[in-house]
Amino acid sequence: MQDLKELNETISAIKQEILDSAGTLTSSRGVYEFKKNFLDFKKGKISQLMKEMRNIPNEHKAEFGKTVNAAKNWALDFFEELDQKLKAEERKHRYENEKIDISMPAVRTTYGNLHPVTTVANQLTDIFASMGFEVYEGSEIETDYYNFTALNTPQDHPARDMQDTFYLSPEFLLRTQTSAGQIHVMEKKKPPIKIISPGKVFRSDDDATHSPMFTQMEGLVVDEGITLCDLKGMLDMFVQRIFGENTTTRLRPSYFPFTEPSVEVDVSCFQCGGKGCKLCKGTGWIEVLGAGVVNKRVLENCGIDSEKYRGFAFGIGLERIAMLKYGINNIKMLFESDLRVLDQIDD
Ligand code: DAH
Repeated sequence: MQDLKELNETISAIKQEILDSAGTLTSSRGVYEFKKNFLDFKKGKISQLMKEMRNIPNEHKAEFGKTVNAAKNWALDFFEELDQKLKAEERKHRYENEKIDISMPAVRTTYGNLHPVTTVANQLTDIFASMGFEVYEGSEIETDYYNFTALNTPQDHPARDMQDTFYLSPEFLLRTQTSAGQIHVMEKKKPPIKIISPGKVFRSDDDATHSPMFTQMEGLVVDEGITLCDLKGMLDMFVQRIFGENTTTRLRPSYFPFTEPSVEVDVSCFQCGGKGCKLCKGTGWIEVLGAGVVNKRVLENCGIDSEKYRGFAFGIGLERIAMLKYGINNIKMLFESDLRVLDQIDD
């Protein structure tokens, strides 16, 4: 290259080449690669122009250098601008692809909830645990002795007719009451005793309020100086926590072979406050459980000194509590697993 004219022509051609190719470059990466053809230190067309300097007469060297530099800066600016533009386009494209349509209806997720009887069992367990009761879980298959005889209900006792029993053999049966657990606990543990025992029980019984399998929670407290007043005080606290602060209990005389005296426990109607409504059948009271002072014979059957120790016991039907709490009028609803029913009960 001899003169500036020729240099300017070359530069014009290079610029044209750059301008022409701009339209074909579509990515920042492409710009980077293409740029090397002109600006790479060794092979770039513009960089190589600088090497021509030595063939240029001295008086033109300064002008030559300036021109090449200007071309280099022009190319740098050009590529920088193109790079920014393509990067912005790439970003825009990415954002568009990632765009979330927040007006789209969400996919519905449904959560299960605990079965009402489980919920009631958990709530009762929490309440009794907070009063210091321990949980004892007995077994569903029992011997006649634990389910009846030791509970002061020997073979020929008329109280056996109170419960229709599923016998597995003359000796073994499906427990009809969690009361059987009382005997196991008292045989193993000496007073003071304070336990609850939740679990399934079985009776040959089937109507709107009875099911062949249902759930009970037994309670037993044995210590020195225990009276019916302790039972009443504890029950009042219990019903307030499960049915509401303004509820109270009333004891009615009853009969169970394993308690003496025995009581039926009513709770003041938590729906009408005692005035009388459909739920309490106009009486203001609802029967919730059976209880009593542990019969001395039961203590003695377990080797506990009945002169020194006294106890109270109670048995709660959990389906009955769930039905009362959640306004369920047929026990079958608790066993049919109909989600339309179960979905409504989330306590
Ligand atoms: N076991 C009785 C029943 O199933 C309920 C019961 C009543 C339990 C009085 C007790 C009690 O512990 O003292 O009908």
